[in-house]
Amino acid sequence: MTGAAISMKRRPAPPSPRANPLLGTAGRLRQDPLGCLQQFVDEAGPACKYRFFAHWWGYLFVHPEHNKHVLLDNYKNFTKLPHPTFLLLYPLVGKGLLSNDGDSWLRQRRLAQPAFHRGQIQEMGKIMIAAAQKRFSRWEQSARSGNLVQFDREMMEMTLEIAGRTLFSVDLTGEASEVGAVFSRLNEIFVKLVVSPISLYTMRIPFWPSTRSVTRNVGALDRVIYAMIDDRRATGESGSDLMGMLLSARDEDTGEGMDEKQLRDEVITLLIAGHETTTLLLTWFFYCLGRYPEIEAQVHDEVDRTLNGRLPTVEDIPNLVYLRQVIDETMRLFPPAYALSRWCAEDDVIGGFATPASAVITLSPFITHRMPEFWPRPGEFDPDRFSQANKQDRHRFAYIPFGAGPRQCIGEGFALTESVLVAAAIAQRFRLRIPEGYVAQMDPQITLHPKGGMKLQFELR
Ligand code: HEM
Repeated sequence: MTGAAISMKRRPAPPSPRANPLLGTAGRLRQDPLGCLQQFVDEAGPACKYRFFAHWWGYLFVHPEHNKHVLLDNYKNFTKLPHPTFLLLYPLVGKGLLSNDGDSWLRQRRLAQPAFHRGQIQEMGKIMIAAAQKRFSRWEQSARSGNLVQFDREMMEMTLEIAGRTLFSVDLTGEASEVGAVFSRLNEIFVKLVVSPISLYTMRIPFWPSTRSVTRNVGALDRVIYAMIDDRRATGESGSDLMGMLLSARDEDTGEGMDEKQLRDEVITLLIAGHETTTLLLTWFFYCLGRYPEIEAQVHDEVDRTLNGRLPTVEDIPNLVYLRQVIDETMRLFPPAYALSRWCAEDDVIGGFATPASAVITLSPFITHRMPEFWPRPGEFDPDRFSQANKQDRHRFAYIPFGAGPRQCIGEGFALTESVLVAAAIAQRFRLRIPEGYVAQMDPQITLHPKGGMKLQFELR
């Protein structure tokens, strides 16, 4: 018996919030996941054990010390598979970096890591800016016409193009609408599956409607991805981008390359992880600027002073200090990855509470980022929280938009470079106006979307 198992016996289970003894909280979680998680914490405290459905329980931990335990101190005990969310996502992402565990995860992470080194990302800056720049004339026309644009879709097409070009040297713009549309459809399907108590059973039934939709959409995506891999192999060159690194990787013992399925899993994972979250960050960022004109004015002032009319480059990033603070504050209130899922491998103790093997665990950056103990006036949008002086004494694990520990987002530097450059380039030329009376509602799918998308109006500055 391990030390954790022995000490667990003397520990209480986390308190439980109210729940229907049979139906549990599955219905409420489906209707309003964020409101429901907040209610759990309000009723039971920062560690709670909630009845999901019938005899299935879930564990929610939101205190920064809990985050530290799960993500860093004892991270090996908290795996992705066989957490139900990752089982459900398996047909899409397989065992790509996001969902893999153990030695296989470590090997793949080491293989991919060099593609995300600082020097590589600096090189990518030009591609990021070019992708924004080529859209300027269309956005200018849109500004002149005064029409609303589906802003989240604009950002999605741009970030997908950036991910395709920088990581895989492919032009996805032709297919962007198709690949993007497939991702959106799969997102909608998965969000329903994740909160359904029967989906782990129905996913095994091939003719079940949701199973058929998943199979059809994943099949469409696979055709694009395998064609991308084949085209690259056909050139006979590996190249220095991520695709090149994955293609030329050899197992140290056997000398064999990565098999087709693993390669496909990594490419799909990185394409999804590499554009979806950044899309949401940029969408919420411009929504926040539109909501708070004084903050918008400060961003414009900084961008104008720093750039003096020219396009931004990676060298400008250290000088765009306030813009970066606004990005950080946007991710505090609207963290694209609003919940992190883990499976507890062996009995453990988190924050003094017994957490048994096989427990299904949720951490929630969304809830942690709004805890009044760490964030005074948590609902207020205040970028000064992230000034050098103000962020110094904060608990490191009170702010985890990119996760933390060994499984921290591999694309953090990439995402921040892209967001700062693109946000500066757009803010230099345009203002995004929020239509009269529109207040964005959050729609927590796998990631945190604005409900019904976000329509904004480009205005020339
Ligand atoms: C604003 C943008 C982004 C946010 C908020 C974000 C957030 C996160 C978070 C919270 C995790 C940890 C998940 C967990 O612990 O369960 C993660 C992991 C990951 N992210 Fe990101 N991400 C962003 C952009 C990117 C980009 C641009 C890429 C790739 C180009 C990327 C690739 C990945 C991968 C592969 C993992 C899994 C890493 C591992 O487990 O080793 N992400 N991301």
